[in-house]
Amino acid sequence: MTESVRESLNKGHIPVLLRESISLLSPADGRTYLDCTFGAGGHSRAILQSANCRVEALDRDPDAAVRAEEFKKEFGARFSFFERNFSQLDKQSTNGYAGVLMDLGVSSFQLDEGRRGFSILRDGPLDMRMNPNEGLSAKELIESLDEDSLAKILRDYGEEPRFRKVAKAVKEASQNGELNSTADLAQIVARAIGPAGRGMRINPATKTFQALRIAVNDELGEVERALPKAFDKLAPGGVLAVISFHSLEDRIVKRFFKKMAGRPVDSNDRSFVQDRVKLAELLTNKPVVAGAGEIEKNPRSRSAKLRAIRKL
Ligand SMILES: C[S@@+](CC[C@H](N)C(=O)[O-])C[C@H]1O[C@@H](n2cnc3c(N)ncnc32)[C@H](O)[C@@H]1O
Repeated sequence: MTESVRESLNKGHIPVLLRESISLLSPADGRTYLDCTFGAGGHSRAILQSANCRVEALDRDPDAAVRAEEFKKEFGARFSFFERNFSQLDKQSTNGYAGVLMDLGVSSFQLDEGRRGFSILRDGPLDMRMNPNEGLSAKELIESLDEDSLAKILRDYGEEPRFRKVAKAVKEASQNGELNSTADLAQIVARAIGPAGRGMRINPATKTFQALRIAVNDELGEVERALPKAFDKLAPGGVLAVISFHSLEDRIVKRFFKKMAGRPVDSNDRSFVQDRVKLAELLTNKPVVAGAGEIEKNPRSRSAKLRAIRKL
């Protein structure tokens, strides 16, 4: 175990919407659950403690695999871990899960450690890969893109209104060899669009960081590919629960769930009623969100939305 992973074990990630997600999954003795996003294991632990059941957990981050070793010691044969992207969950040999959970996005471990390159506030290499052994780092991605493609990422994934200005400044800095660290990126964006105004609580580079993180990890593609596979792997009566943290993810989840429930996916859905098949029941007509108490203890929960369906 590396020193930084050992240190991080003592810091912690507070699981979001824990009571609500466990209540939707309602773990039962003898059944098996799939936690697609192990992270620090907060949800896995709660499932294992709710019933005499089994949990299979996935995570693409090798640091999560290290944390999972502690779980194996604690829960023995009731827990197993697979270092794998959840878009590959069809590779699991188990079929008929009683519940599948996805708690999307990044963990506090990833955000808080400068070396992972996700943090605006803690300097580190401009990386942002959840699995540092897979794909291009944020720095390499920026180098590989032309200015227009970068602008499109900032617009579509970050909803950054000044996407052209930011893309131009970031590309220029990258070409001049001035873009190497997260601090470089934060400064370049602040210089391009000005510091956060008075009363503005978010850092001016927040949207740029979000956009690049989503692109580097193909976060939306991962969710699109994983949802139908997760549904396939559920036993009849099994529950698929997803916690998302921004509207782009939530939209994918909402549309998929409506489709499985045989409903129009949105107001523009022109498909014929007779072509819609009801394969699931919506357990959450509106997304479940965190209450004031949870938000106060854990500000990260502010943007969380939990949706669930039950397979018929
Ligand atoms: C919000 S954290 C999960 C926290 C966890 N529920 C807990 O309570 O400790 C999200 C985790 O999912 C992992 N992750 C994100 N996208 C993934 C993907 N496509 N495949 C596998 N793991 C992924 C991240 O590496 C991160 O560890």
